[in-house]
Amino acid sequence: MEQLPILKKEHEEIRNILVALECLIENNPTIYKVKEILNKLGEMWDVHEKREEAAFEFFEKEGIEMPFKTMFIAEHREFKGHWKVLNKYVSSSHAKILNVALETDGRMLIDKFRKHMALEEIFFNKISSKDNKL
Ligand SMILES: [Fe+2]
Ligand SMILES: [Fe+2]
Repeated sequence: MEQLPILKKEHEEIRNILVALECLIENNPTIYKVKEILNKLGEMWDVHEKREEAAFEFFEKEGIEMPFKTMFIAEHREFKGHWKVLNKYVSSSHAKILNVALETDGRMLIDKFRKHMALEEIFFNKISSKDNKL
């Protein structure tokens, strides 16, 4: 399935953005910098979320068991929630409040994203090894 390498590549790009966000959190960022990274993450995430959910539908139609599909999709919505919260604080332009949001929602988002993508990749690798035609 030609979508798998694309999805994995997007994971790498998202991971890089998460590292950049983590560095920002640790270095007392300006609102402008946070806004820039969040926009980048949001754009990347919208593309990835759509592609991945379409791929999940395709896998299911192909008869591939997807025990984690509901959880993966619920987590996608959860990420959007954290992202929206962070964006709200970026728009409020209060640096101190934004820093608190980054320490809570920001770190939570980073952690959940990493675990989510790691689990998805275990699933992707399983699919690849089961059927090379996919
Ligand atoms: Fe996902
Ligand atoms: Fe993913």
